[in-house]
Amino acid sequence: MTAEASTSVVEHKQDGDVLLVSVNNPPVNALGAAVRQGLMAAMEQADASAAVKAVVIVGQGKAFIAGADIREFGKPPVQPFLPDVCNRIEACSKPVVAVIHGAALGGGLEIAMSAHYRLALPGAKLGLPEVSLGLVPGAGGTQRAPRLMGVKAATELMLSGQQIGAKAGLAAGLVDKLDDGADPVAAGLAYARELLAQGAPLRPVSATPGRLADKAAAQAELDALRADTAKKSRGLFSPLKIIDCVQAALDLPFAEGLKFERAQFLACIDSPQRAGLIHAFFAERETAKIPEARAAQPRAFSKIAIIGGGTMGAGITVSALDAGLVVTMIERDAESIARGQANVEKVYNGLIAKGRMSEEAKAAIMARYTPSTRYDDIADVDLVIEAVFEDLEVKKAVFKELDRVCKSGAVLATNTSYLDIDAIAAVTSRPQDVIGLHFFSPANIMKLLEIVVPAKVAPDVVTTAFELAKKMKKVPVRAGVCDGFIGNRILATYKQAADYLMEDGASPYEIDEAVRGFGFAMGPFQVTDLAGGDIGWATRKRRAATRDPKARYVEIADRICENGWFGQKTGRGFYLYPQGARIGQPDPEVLAIVDAERARKGVTPRPFTAEEIMRRYMAAMVNEGAKVVGEGIALRPLDVDVTFISGYGFPRHRGGPMKWADMQGLPKVLADIEAFAKEDALFWKPAPLLQKLVAEGKDFESLNK
Ligand code: 3HC
Ligand code: NAI
Repeated sequence: MTAEASTSVVEHKQDGDVLLVSVNNPPVNALGAAVRQGLMAAMEQADASAAVKAVVIVGQGKAFIAGADIREFGKPPVQPFLPDVCNRIEACSKPVVAVIHGAALGGGLEIAMSAHYRLALPGAKLGLPEVSLGLVPGAGGTQRAPRLMGVKAATELMLSGQQIGAKAGLAAGLVDKLDDGADPVAAGLAYARELLAQGAPLRPVSATPGRLADKAAAQAELDALRADTAKKSRGLFSPLKIIDCVQAALDLPFAEGLKFERAQFLACIDSPQRAGLIHAFFAERETAKIPEARAAQPRAFSKIAIIGGGTMGAGITVSALDAGLVVTMIERDAESIARGQANVEKVYNGLIAKGRMSEEAKAAIMARYTPSTRYDDIADVDLVIEAVFEDLEVKKAVFKELDRVCKSGAVLATNTSYLDIDAIAAVTSRPQDVIGLHFFSPANIMKLLEIVVPAKVAPDVVTTAFELAKKMKKVPVRAGVCDGFIGNRILATYKQAADYLMEDGASPYEIDEAVRGFGFAMGPFQVTDLAGGDIGWATRKRRAATRDPKARYVEIADRICENGWFGQKTGRGFYLYPQGARIGQPDPEVLAIVDAERARKGVTPRPFTAEEIMRRYMAAMVNEGAKVVGEGIALRPLDVDVTFISGYGFPRHRGGPMKWADMQGLPKVLADIEAFAKEDALFWKPAPLLQKLVAEGKDFESLNK
């Protein structure tokens, strides 16, 4: 091989009669400006050199090309633009082969679709995930994918953002050939030579309608997808734009379709949804960057114990088994352990019933599960997660047992939602090994894992917890000890704001509707009904003695619970659920209770628009979020954002509460809080951090760096 003029991120070398173009821009070969320039130069070289008969494009490292460089979005664009690079590749006068190993996503797949031939290796991941960043594919993807795959498959790939493997890519028409080898360069060179030997022609996708040839059938597919997307896209901006772009692929000549796509892409770039979604993408990767990571290697773990097989214990057990760990579950007695095991098996049986798991696969998983009622059986485990009743004394008794039986160096974790983990650690002789692992329900599904760091824990226990999160495919967020940690503490505050709104004049149904309109899947009163009103009621009763007597307290939920109306499980709560219905209906008797409570408190109800409801709801969330960051409970504002997106149904396209506040402008949010404080100075006390940032003209983002 002889080296030709190359840039540092795109090398091109002559190998016999093939020009090997190799993208080397770690970690994922994103298409930054230098890569785009390098690819342009390589195509010039290919056209100019008579010695080049074919071109092979490969990616170095673990990916082919993972797409446009997301960090460039929102900054002034730099030439050459990606659509021009794609067109240049397609216009090359020599056949171009793209060799896909690892990720070929977004712009990466658009580069591959601009090549004349696509070869895929095992482990290839093909996708157009722009929609999850609030975008449409912007380098010809919406025009070339339907030509290659047909309207239905291409549009579904773009709307779902999902990745498909090499074989599925071949079946879909996205890939021309598979190669079982592990070396992309060798496979690509061999394929290029095979094509040259066959005299294979240039095959620009743009030159023919391909699978769009049957226009009527294609239009029918697109109409059905448009109707479905309009129903499901819930205020999202880019899904319908994707449909519009595919319509352009059907209606317009290729070059016109590309222009249309570009205009939609730029409109998406300007949308706040793009800013929110891209913030979420990076924030989710940042939360694992914690101070302990630099100093402390995680402890090894393969065998773990779960104490308690109730709702959470069973879900955590499934998560651990799915992560390949060996699990012993401990329960109080024979009856409880049988129930615990049944709770675990129910999850797998559900998958079997849906045809998503075989009996054999379940048996293989359950072979790593041992039920027990004896603590002595967990003497040799590496890590324990306690998920017994939320009662400090019960938990202390369990931790004394763990301290007695567990081997030295075992990590001892609690799944408590609110309790003081320092106090739990203090009953053991090894507080350095005790940590909080706050999973969310259902624990085998929910992505969020709050890793709660008590005062005396050792740094390598913290990194072990993050390692466990990675194995379980969770999104970990580091939190400090306080009542409710990050999520439940902030939830308690905005729930209170919702209660005040209800007592002041908005109905629970209006509040839920406003919250859904903002993008949450459910409003706060629907959530209460789903979780069970009795849980919050028990907490309120427990806290009654320590509640600030000057703080406003709304009793409506207590009145509802006093009737035994605990939500879905009892058939009524804030809503009615006739015959086990899952979607509630407004209940006139609840409205009567609300009216009676207002009258008892002497409140004259006033109307609130959805916008006014959300201003208060969000102001309460952001203010408490700022307190949580200011007190060091959350490391950065982005940790609050990720907590809410991954654990509390916060609409991802708004980027999380702190990002939302930045986008509103912090002075505006603070002005709202100060205005509300005129009604209730105790509840609406502005967070010192928020005041400081406003005074300095800064935003939350300045603390994420
Ligand atoms: N641009 C810039 N940085 C990127 C990137 C991209 N497209 N994709 C990943 N990265 C960065 C990550 O932020 C991370 O950085 P860090 O180490 O500093 O935190 C690093 O690369 C590694 O990423 P992951 O931790 O996610 O690594 P994984 O191995 O778990 O996953 C991946 C790799 C599957 C490629 C995943 O990173 C991913 O899904 N990336 C995004 C792919 C994507 O959305 N592409 C479309 C972009 S939009 C586009 O192409 C527009 C076009 O149509 C015009
Ligand atoms: P649950 O009541 O469903 O299960 C608790 C289980 O612990 C029961 O099966 C009980 O038999 C068992 N248990 C009690 N004492 C025990 C002991 N000494 N030894 C062994 N097992 C014992 O409760 P759930 O909902 O699973 O909650 C467990 C913990 O998880 C609590 O701390 C709770 O705050 C926390 N949590 C709950 C969430 C939820 O949504 N349910 C969400 C996040 C955390």
